[in-house]
Amino acid sequence: QELDIKLEALEKGGYDHFMLKEIYEQPRSIRDCLRGRIYPGQGKVQLGGIKEYVEKLKNIDRIIIVACGTSWHAGLVGEYLIEEYARVPVEVEYASEFRYRNPIINEKDLVIAISQSGETADTMAAIELAKEKGATIFGICNVVGASIPRTTHAGVYTHAGPEIGVASTKAFTAQVTVLTLIAFYIAQKRGAITQSKLIEYLTELDEIPTLVERALQSNDHVKTIAEKFKSSNNCLFLGRGSSFPVALEGALKLKEISYIHAEGYPAAEMKHGPIALIDEDMPVVFIATKHSSYEKVISNIQEVKARGGHVIAIVTEGDTEVKDMAEYVIEIPQTGEAFVPLLATIPLQLLAYHIAVMRGCNVDQPRNLAKSVTVE
Ligand code: G6P
Repeated sequence: QELDIKLEALEKGGYDHFMLKEIYEQPRSIRDCLRGRIYPGQGKVQLGGIKEYVEKLKNIDRIIIVACGTSWHAGLVGEYLIEEYARVPVEVEYASEFRYRNPIINEKDLVIAISQSGETADTMAAIELAKEKGATIFGICNVVGASIPRTTHAGVYTHAGPEIGVASTKAFTAQVTVLTLIAFYIAQKRGAITQSKLIEYLTELDEIPTLVERALQSNDHVKTIAEKFKSSNNCLFLGRGSSFPVALEGALKLKEISYIHAEGYPAAEMKHGPIALIDEDMPVVFIATKHSSYEKVISNIQEVKARGGHVIAIVTEGDTEVKDMAEYVIEIPQTGEAFVPLLATIPLQLLAYHIAVMRGCNVDQPRNLAKSVTVE
């Protein structure tokens, strides 16, 4: 038994928990995910796993993304990226809903199934259904050779390495990275993006692992914020655009491992419900980076402040406007709008982690949850 304990400590590589180790692995896992797939100088994306489907990709009418849990959140980020850059309509569905509602799908649809484990029963069933209806199925999986990648027509592995913590961290950012690559790949093949724009985006994408490293430097600051809010019973996460799924993911992380009730919402929807909950006991985490919805998110921050809520904001490095308003700000490096989810997720993972540790929760194996859900 002593040997087992020592072995586990060794596997954690000096970190207290697998989750923290995996959070810190993200610069490397994203780099591994990009390796051999982008050539920024040439403006080229190379995805060997789906290259036989290039003609198909030129002719698809629609993409349907199916997934569960955190993978579904990655799918929502993918929807923004694919629609924005490749200009193909995208729908994102919970696999469990999709499989039971007689969905309308045909041969001109591309279904992308996202699954870390590659074993999730509902996602597997959704794939089988779509396959029967003649759709082309791509997989985005982490575990090589799992059931889902064996069932799909083609796919792109995330190469994040084994993820032990039940709450998904590095697999999520790797899924988002792959979806970013797929968005640019389809954009290029369909002529939806200019070569010079692509060079610019890929150059930025190539920098992301280094920027994630910098985002991780907020750890100590995030820990002091966690200390302030560790006893909260509720927490709201708000963002717009592709930061909306990041808000959902931040809320999911917190509820999964700290058992604090947390909800993610599109910031503008706050006025249609959640605003009624805001008082001095309600911390609200905003993703308020300097991109297209910045000014609008700022007005949401003011609304929360006016009601006595505590504001924690994820902001772009050097931001002064939000700093003057929010109680706490966490800076992330400046990047293009497409890549914000990859950076904004990092402090939210750390926040959930530290709060859970402070509450004495079993961070790596939260109650009632499983890493791989093979029953429906
Ligand atoms: C479980 C895990 C989650 C995961 C979800 C989907 O609920 O606890 O972390 O996001 O399943 O799993 P998959 O392996 O399909 O990504």
